[in-house]
Amino acid sequence: MLIDGHNRVVDYLRVSVTERCNFRCQYCMPEKPFSWVPKENLLSYENLFKFIKVSIDEGVKKVRITGGEPLLREGLDAFIKMIYDYKNDIDLALTTNGYLLPKVAQKLKDAGLKRVNISLDTLKPDVAQKIAQKDVLNKVLEGIETASKVGLKVKINCVPMKGINDGELVDILEFCKDRGYTVRFIEFMENHHAKDSAKGLNSEEIQKIIASKYNFKPVKRDGSSPSQNFKLNDGYEFGIIEPHKADFCSDCNRIRLTAEGFLIPCLYFEDALSIKKAVESDDIEKAVEILKKVLKNKPEKNKWSEDSDGETSARAFYKTGG
Ligand code: GTP
Ligand code: 5AD
Ligand code: SF4
Repeated sequence: MLIDGHNRVVDYLRVSVTERCNFRCQYCMPEKPFSWVPKENLLSYENLFKFIKVSIDEGVKKVRITGGEPLLREGLDAFIKMIYDYKNDIDLALTTNGYLLPKVAQKLKDAGLKRVNISLDTLKPDVAQKIAQKDVLNKVLEGIETASKVGLKVKINCVPMKGINDGELVDILEFCKDRGYTVRFIEFMENHHAKDSAKGLNSEEIQKIIASKYNFKPVKRDGSSPSQNFKLNDGYEFGIIEPHKADFCSDCNRIRLTAEGFLIPCLYFEDALSIKKAVESDDIEKAVEILKKVLKNKPEKNKWSEDSDGETSARAFYKTGG
């Protein structure tokens, strides 16, 4: 079992396979970065897999593939199959913008993927174009439908932003409820890379909008997911991810591995160590040592928390995989 320096059990590894993305979301990557990390600096799937094996052997029970946009990296289905074949009972999931899913959902499911979380910030084509800076909505909707049809469990992520999609939250909730997808509204996390004009809604503002049409009650958090869920009278559950809440990090169970091999203790924190050399030289003991060091230094809280000094994160979401 992996325990961090604040006595939290860490059993969830998020692995970014690329920082590249085919969208330019206002809250994440409104401009293409000055340059991408050269492909030769990325860890190969074999080397990423070596670290995933180490983590699973040490107690990780949930692995999520992220990006940038993970479906941009070729051969992802074979990578998923490697993980599935190693331990088929782990919670094996993917976070994607959905655009390329229509083509690959079946292949991913066949490889052993169980769940997929897809971003859907709006149901209006022109608003989607404004947020992602590309005409994306039809493909994303097709991606969501295909994923569900092939038997992947679907969750929808929506980042509510003032003056952009805040008038659609009930519609998005109903879209998901009618189709059996869980929707989670994510508080916008301020960061240096987002568009200056991007302003998010906090959890209370989101709840107020949903409460204009539905009654709901909070559900006890289950600890495996960052989301606080709420139950409507008819039993449907939606979630809100509330990183600005003071206790958001109290049950944090996550660490992150970037495509270049940096092991990151917290989405916000700058203190990362590289496992690249260790896995490339098959030094498993070293990899375990680095993993434990990073866990020991995992901070108690992120800096969005309402009781922190609140400087804005310099780390790009597209590098850490959200
Ligand atoms: P489930 O396992 O389905 O609950 O997925 P998940 O919510 O862990 O994964 P997903 O990739 O869908 O993440 C949703 C959002 O939660 C993303 O915007 C993440 O950045 C945010 N999030 C996840 N973990 C953390 C965290 O440790 N800190 C902060 N601040 N945000 C997080
Ligand atoms: N704040 C909140 N959520 C964000 N995401 C990306 N950038 C931000 C941000 N600044 C979300 C995306 C995606 C998930 C992986 O991270 O909407 O669903
Ligand atoms: Fe790409 Fe996801 Fe960032 Fe949007 S939020 S630019 S889809 S990595």
